[in-house]
Amino acid sequence: MAIERTFSIIKPDAVRRNLIGKILTKFEDGGLRPIALKKIQMTRAQAEGFYSVHKDRPFYGELVDQMIASPVIIQVLEGEGAILRNREIMGATNPANAAEGTIRKEFALSMGENSVHGSDAPETAAEEIRFFFSDDELVG
Ligand code: CMP
Repeated sequence: MAIERTFSIIKPDAVRRNLIGKILTKFEDGGLRPIALKKIQMTRAQAEGFYSVHKDRPFYGELVDQMIASPVIIQVLEGEGAILRNREIMGATNPANAAEGTIRKEFALSMGENSVHGSDAPETAAEEIRFFFSDDELVG
């Protein structure tokens, strides 16, 4: 399988509970390498723009509020089939449906506060990486 890059967020609920290290360990043990990583306080405009695909969904307002409630970790993960691999490591969006051993099964609180975000396809991965990182920040 080809080496890919994908975009990942460790969400406010997980950062607040001091779970950054435990979550990064899941990615690293799963064969993904963080090639760029920063801690930011997302602005409302950034959160609204990032999740604009969901702007007509009933959960949009709450999602944006949750994403700006406190800082997040944003990162680019690289590895074999990284987009799918990341989603396997995260588990299902709704933690009630997440498989044993996944991040969301272990750490997520609810559908909204589900601890991590990951890109769902190659096009969105490229867009989401570009949304938060410049080329010279992808240091490999
Ligand atoms: P994420 O992978 O960050 O992408 C969109 C987020 O919206 C999702 O994870 C959930 O945290 C949140 N969300 C809240 N309600 C829903 C829902 N009904 N369906 C999908 N996503 C939802």
